[in-house]
Amino acid sequence: MCGIVGYIGKRQAAPILLEGLKRLEYRGYDSAGIAVFHAGELFLMKRKGSVRALSRAKGAEGSLGIGHTRWATHGAPSARNAHPHVYRNIVLVHNGIIENAEDLRRECLARGERFASETDSEVIAHLIAHVYRGDLLCAVRESCSRLEGAYALAVMCKEEERIVCVRQKSPLVVAEEDGEQFVASDLPALAGKAERAYVLCDGEYVSLGKALTFYDSALNPIEKAPEKGQQAQDSAAKGRGHFMLREMAEIPAAMAKTAQNFEKEYQNSGLCEVLCHAEYIDIIACGTAYHAGLCAKYAIEAAVRIPVRVSVASEYRYMDPIVKRGTLAVAISQSGETADTLAAAQLAKAKGANLLAIVNVQSSSLSRIAEHVLMTYAGQEVAVAATKSFNAQLMALYLLTEKLARAKGRTLSLPPLAKAAKEALVRSEAVRAWAERFAAARDAIFIGRGADYCTALEGSLKLKEITYLPSEGYPAGELKHGTLALIGEDTPVVAVVTEEGTARKTMNAVHEVAARSGKVFLVTMFAELCKEKEVFASLLLPKTSGLFSPAVAVIPLQKLAYHTALARGNDPDKPRNLAKSVTVE
Ligand code: G6P
Repeated sequence: MCGIVGYIGKRQAAPILLEGLKRLEYRGYDSAGIAVFHAGELFLMKRKGSVRALSRAKGAEGSLGIGHTRWATHGAPSARNAHPHVYRNIVLVHNGIIENAEDLRRECLARGERFASETDSEVIAHLIAHVYRGDLLCAVRESCSRLEGAYALAVMCKEEERIVCVRQKSPLVVAEEDGEQFVASDLPALAGKAERAYVLCDGEYVSLGKALTFYDSALNPIEKAPEKGQQAQDSAAKGRGHFMLREMAEIPAAMAKTAQNFEKEYQNSGLCEVLCHAEYIDIIACGTAYHAGLCAKYAIEAAVRIPVRVSVASEYRYMDPIVKRGTLAVAISQSGETADTLAAAQLAKAKGANLLAIVNVQSSSLSRIAEHVLMTYAGQEVAVAATKSFNAQLMALYLLTEKLARAKGRTLSLPPLAKAAKEALVRSEAVRAWAERFAAARDAIFIGRGADYCTALEGSLKLKEITYLPSEGYPAGELKHGTLALIGEDTPVVAVVTEEGTARKTMNAVHEVAARSGKVFLVTMFAELCKEKEVFASLLLPKTSGLFSPAVAVIPLQKLAYHTALARGNDPDKPRNLAKSVTVE
């Protein structure tokens, strides 16, 4: 998935497009490009790599343009495959995946057309150029009827002074103020740009130009209300240095703010009645959000005693899941735009579940399809590897657990988790000293039991994402059934131990690792364990309940990944091959 921007107004377009693209870089940074029209002449610049490579385009003349930052799906990351794609009079940027691109491409080739790139997106430019008869909007619609898959498009043509956009399963927002109009993949890209912002729904078209006009899928003009209270805010972490580091520093605030707003969120969500009748919980998410879901399963099953299933959304959507009556489906997503999570959530709803979204972006697609919404208050997260949003998700999920317990006649009270997270942040500075050893390792293993296993999974994912070291998160007791074979001289093994009942059991695995010359790095709440001779290095966490400990115990693991990435010379904010918001399958 990619980020797209567009501008039409009275100012020079290029600086506005470049600024918008910078804000969208978290959606991909394999290549970038902009196209600007000036008196019918097209300026086009495309470069491999990040938006920075386009800095020379800043001076381009013209007040009508579109831009793109790419996460490669079809075709390698290269200038050739970068957007905007130009074919004859048509110039376009695309976010999404066209699943029947090969068939369409063959059709175009049979007409004698030549392609300049290997992308699925260029095919759309060919289709539009082929059917263009003087009305760009009609040509875009006619072409879209041929497309299968997901797309958000911004299209210009030489003959018309406007940008035509459409959305189908990939996000798109537009905004206007004072005769200026903007389009982008999300609201933060338009931060501070315009007062009135509108979110396009699937199948809707919009034409930006003399007027901002919205159309339904049959091109009937429609009225759209601006988003309430959705002024695009610039809430990315302030300060200098890597976003990931600044975002980790904001973990306690993200947790505290989520907790402060929870009661209001809960009352507005209409969940009260639903929780009383909920007999099963079906959690759906991807990546880090999936790990938050796993943590919630341990907490809910232990504290509320109702069954919880946690599924990776991309599996759930194709496994014809059995959804029993009385199921509350909980879709967790930072962005609220992850394609797999959206599809899985829709499926759960269609199968009769009540759908609750736990989401960090208010106007996201997920919050729109859900019957109930609980917001997390992590603020904008820019670094691709999720940190503060995970802790905020846990806060919301644990507070939901508390409500569920009450609905089922049980009592549960959460320990002061934001306070413990603050203390953990300070103590975690010590793991900087571990980074060199991890940076030099061939691989790493993270182990734990119960909630600690979930922490181990998330710690391992963080390390993989930004250091590119192969890493496994494993249940401590399962190590001996295979994975122990990976332990060699000096293999770093992070053991997470916060649950009193199973601490000794996990320490058995620690002994097994040390006996095979592995190096054990212990993250624990129990001071006495740090003194054991098998422990190579340790970090003592502030005391909190083991069941809710992932929100605290993950912090040193996030820091470990960060410092190891730096030691390996990687940019922790922009790991290779990844993007923050995956709006394609
Ligand atoms: C991408 C990101 C991950 C994130 C996952 C789910 O893969 O790189 O960091 O956890 O998507 O994103 P969501 O916005 O749904 O939480």
